[in-house]
Amino acid sequence: MRVNGKEYRTVWLEGSTVKLIDQHRLPHAFAIADCQTHRDTARAIQTMLVRGAGAIGGAAGYAMAQAALEAPQDALLSYVEEAASLIRATRPTAHDLFYAVDHVLRAIQQAGTPATARRDAVRVAEQLADENAKAGETIGRVGSALLRDGARLMTHCNAGWLAFVDWGSALAPIYHAHRAGRAVFVYVNETRPRSQGAKLTAWELAQEGIDHTVIADTAAGSLFQRGQVDGVIVGADRIAANGDVVNKIGTYTLALLAKHHGVPFYVAAPRSTFDLSIPEGSKIPIEERSADEVTWVTGLTPQGRLERVRITPEASPAKNPAFDLTPAPFVTRFITEGGLLDPTASSLRAFVTATPARPTVAGDSSS
Ligand code: MRU
Repeated sequence: MRVNGKEYRTVWLEGSTVKLIDQHRLPHAFAIADCQTHRDTARAIQTMLVRGAGAIGGAAGYAMAQAALEAPQDALLSYVEEAASLIRATRPTAHDLFYAVDHVLRAIQQAGTPATARRDAVRVAEQLADENAKAGETIGRVGSALLRDGARLMTHCNAGWLAFVDWGSALAPIYHAHRAGRAVFVYVNETRPRSQGAKLTAWELAQEGIDHTVIADTAAGSLFQRGQVDGVIVGADRIAANGDVVNKIGTYTLALLAKHHGVPFYVAAPRSTFDLSIPEGSKIPIEERSADEVTWVTGLTPQGRLERVRITPEASPAKNPAFDLTPAPFVTRFITEGGLLDPTASSLRAFVTATPARPTVAGDSSS
């Protein structure tokens, strides 16, 4: 991704420090945060300094590499296993996080010595990050073929660069189509309560010079009714074996609207988001976040100060489920790095099992 003319990834490793774009400060300030230890990186995931399924997968892989680098020589395995538990406990829903932790942990467990464990942990974490960025680029190429010149699209939450190591999932086809010279217009759903659409997707699209407008989530139905939406593209946090999709709260409402109005509903996601061990979406854990995210909002004052203000009566409780479930029959197609998929268990299985299950490490011949 290019920010102010310079190429960035959302998260990367420099020596033993994890660097990431600070997503708390966007869109008002662009800053890089440093995480010196695996505990700092785990905290960054938990507090959503870095967020989005692919980006927390990248950060989780690097956190495991940091743990291997920090670990005492005589207790490396128990140290990294404890780190894996800490990282897995940061956020429950996105499969990419567990995928990354498991892959780096397996490489460490298979290494013969502490030195090879450290080397392989870093190598696998880097491979996972590269794989994540590359998948986004391919998803962009595959999905852009669906977007005609002049298409008016709707997206929800943020499934762009910032939600991945690079490129993104739902926004990648839009970036490809735009770079290929096609006019695309994007309705950006605000995505209450944390407003990832208004804050992050709008910022990304503005950086790319893509025509867009932010809408309140409640405005979506009216736009469909007036025939102003040609397609919906969203990302996913976890996809079950039967094609049920768990994504940011509010996605299901859009899927219902799209179905009712005969508008295609696309879900863009890489292999690391598909979890064949979960038979159907109702078994995917849904994160319940603090009610404060509903009752308070943060924004910039005209004087340029960031302020947090309460918007509900103090006595009113609030509920904050972070994700919802869209059943497979609502999905027109999955857009993946393996091509377009029908929302059926057999096509998902063929895709996930046809691609390498994990990046290889030197001297490792296991699948
Ligand atoms: O809670 P977040 O911001 O980490 O939510 C994850 C997401 O960004 C979305 O649900 C997105 O649509 C899928 S992640 C590529």
